Amino acid sequence: MSTQAPIRRMTVPQIRAKKGGEPIISLTSYHAHTAAIVDKYADFILVGDSLGMVMHGMDSTIGVPLDLMIMHGRAVVRGTKRALIVVDMPFGTYEESPNMAFRNAAKIMKETACGAVKLEGGARMAETIHFLTERGIPVMAHIGLTPQSSHVMGGFKTQGRDEETWAAHINDAVAVADAGAFSLVVEGVVEPLADKITAAVDIPTIGIGASAKCDGQILVLEDMLGLNPWVPKFVKKYGDLGPAIERAVADYAEEVKTRTFPGEDHVYR
Ligand code: KIV
Repeated sequence: MSTQAPIRRMTVPQIRAKKGGEPIISLTSYHAHTAAIVDKYADFILVGDSLGMVMHGMDSTIGVPLDLMIMHGRAVVRGTKRALIVVDMPFGTYEESPNMAFRNAAKIMKETACGAVKLEGGARMAETIHFLTERGIPVMAHIGLTPQSSHVMGGFKTQGRDEETWAAHINDAVAVADAGAFSLVVEGVVEPLADKITAAVDIPTIGIGASAKCDGQILVLEDMLGLNPWVPKFVKKYGDLGPAIERAVADYAEEVKTRTFPGEDHVYR
C-alpha cells in the first residue's frame, strides 16, 4: 500500500486565489520533457500559440492551426503532474461567435485534458468569456499587446505609452474579469498602466513585458533559455542553450568526421 500522498494539480480556483499574494510563477512549454522540468517550479504552464514562432519557424501566430495546439497540449499534459495546464485558442477559432468558441474550447479540453484555455481580447470578448465559463470552461484572458491582432496594431508595440489610451485598457481588464475570466495575461504595457490594471481587477494579472506590478509573470521558455536567435528586448536570458547546442552538434560532427566517434561501449544492444 502506498503511503505517499497523490500529487494534485494546481486548480483554477487556487490560481485565482493567489490575487495579491505570493507572485504566480508561469512559463510556456511545448514539449513533454521540458514541461516536466518547468512543472517543478510553475503554478501554471501555458501551451501558447507562440509555439508557431518558437517551434515551427512561423513569423507570427496567425497561421497556427487548432490541431497543432492540441498536439503540443497533449505532450505537455503527459509530461506534467503539478501545474495547471492552459492551452491557447489560436487565431480564427473563437472570435466569430460564442458557439464557435465553445465548440473549439471543448475540443481542446477533451483532446488534451488541459485545465483551462486562454484567448486574446478585452471587452469585445466578454460575451464569449461569459458563455464559456457558464458552460464549464475556465478562461484566462489576454489584453494589452495581443499578438493575434498585430496587423491591426501595426506590429508588436508597447501599449499605453499615451496616457489617454489607459482607460480603454483598464475597461478591457474589468470587462473580462466581470465576464468570469479567472486570470488575465497583460502583455507589453507600460508599468504604471500594469499597476492600474492590477489594482482594478480582483483576478490575478500575469505580466509579460509588463513590469513587476502584476500578480505573476510569464515568459516564453525558449526565449529565456536563449534558444531563439531573436528575443524581445524585455526578456532576460536565464540560459544560453543556442550556443550550447551548437557546441554539442559541432563536437559530434567532428568525431564522426575524424572517425573518433565512440565505439564498442556505445553500440545499441
Ligand atoms: O503564446 C504565448 O506565448 C503567449 C504568451 C506571450 C503569454 O500568449
